[in-house]
Amino acid sequence: MGMPEGFVWGAASASYQVEGGAREGGRSPSVWDEFSETPGKTFDGHTGAVACDSYHRPEEDAALLADMGATGYRLSIAWPRVIPGGDGVINDEGLAYYDRLVDALLARGVDPWVTLFHWDFPACLYRRGGWLNRDSADWLAEYTAAVVDRLSDRVTNWFTLNEPQIFLGLGHNEGTHAPGLKLSRKDVLLATHHALLGHGKSAQVIRARAKKPSRIGCAPVGNLKSPATETPADIEAARAATFSVPEQGWTFNYTWYCDPMLRGHYPEDGLKLFGKDAPAAPEADMKTIHQPMDFFGVNIYNSEIVRAGKDGKPEPVKRGPGYPITMFRWPVQPDALYWGPRFLQERYKLPVVITENGLASMDWVHADGKVHDAGRIDFLTRYLGELRRAISDGVDVRGYFQWSIMDNYEWAEGYALRFGLVYVDYLSGERIPKDSYYWMKSVIASNGKSLPETPAKLR
Ligand code: GCO
Repeated sequence: MGMPEGFVWGAASASYQVEGGAREGGRSPSVWDEFSETPGKTFDGHTGAVACDSYHRPEEDAALLADMGATGYRLSIAWPRVIPGGDGVINDEGLAYYDRLVDALLARGVDPWVTLFHWDFPACLYRRGGWLNRDSADWLAEYTAAVVDRLSDRVTNWFTLNEPQIFLGLGHNEGTHAPGLKLSRKDVLLATHHALLGHGKSAQVIRARAKKPSRIGCAPVGNLKSPATETPADIEAARAATFSVPEQGWTFNYTWYCDPMLRGHYPEDGLKLFGKDAPAAPEADMKTIHQPMDFFGVNIYNSEIVRAGKDGKPEPVKRGPGYPITMFRWPVQPDALYWGPRFLQERYKLPVVITENGLASMDWVHADGKVHDAGRIDFLTRYLGELRRAISDGVDVRGYFQWSIMDNYEWAEGYALRFGLVYVDYLSGERIPKDSYYWMKSVIASNGKSLPETPAKLR
């Protein structure tokens, strides 16, 4: 059995992680340029100044996707290219790169799915308060208008924010991502509220100004749980834990962000947990945040395992020694692509699009000149098999974007971790498709029918 007809097979990337050209074309610094250029902040001081040099290779990148048979490419736009001053004057040269990339994709039958904000916040706006300034919502809306006016005659699928959980959690609470802040919980929640307002205003701008009928989603990540067994009690425990705001790691959850977006209010358990730290949320704000969405985009890499403990409460289940992990030390948990789409669709009643899924593995050019990444092939075989199982159980999944089409700048880890289907030689910019690229090409050609029905048990 394959995926539904019209299923979108794609891969993803993000502007700061692949483009390079950091000081070209009128682009101004983002918080990630300044953070990564600060000694000690990133692995070996790596920055995205050159990255994969995609800024100079739009046609080459488009061809990589098309030759794999992809029908979609999830890319992000660099706000500091489009409006270098953050707000105000639009930089035509900055938009010209995206014109070229979008045209190169469409000329090859690949649909661009555009993420408006994937963390490269203009540094000049950060100095005006960043997300802590309520104006940030309007800044994002103004930037969205510039992009939509230029590209919406060709781009019809949009994501507003990529992983608010991470750019707020790691960037404003833990300080391990740009801009490297360790704010009070109250301030993190205020910045979050403004980012959610920005999501709503950005969606309103797309609805009002898009030149063609458009679909809008967000691309969150969250604290997904898989049930230890498929008994009703364990499933209910996993569902409850997935949709809770945890006291430990309170920024990493679905509901504090997605309930305002899709249900129009903050979740009760979060309001109780945060108490007076929760932001003022006037009805008008919640109405702005709560915009109609067309799909639930979601980045899923893994999940934690829970079972129903005493009185059914979720309790964590530890994995045994030697359990398979990726190079990022994330657990290989294929059924995350079963339970994630299923739980999220049950709660938010939208078609699901997997906007990121993949792994970092130990990839290098082998003696035969090829890049053999059997681990990635097995990982994707298992995860895609679980996604297909979710679809066969009735979950409406519209597409899958693998992370990532190519190795790229992995934020604070720099170039130490390779997630790509395509190997990148960062000294020359040469792209070398890995074994998994050719494998993915065959899976796409079969629309998923080539995936095994019952892979051997993972252990
Ligand atoms: C994220 C980001 C990506 C990462 C990828 C691997 O999900 O953190 O969207 O930019 O590179 O997930 O960590």
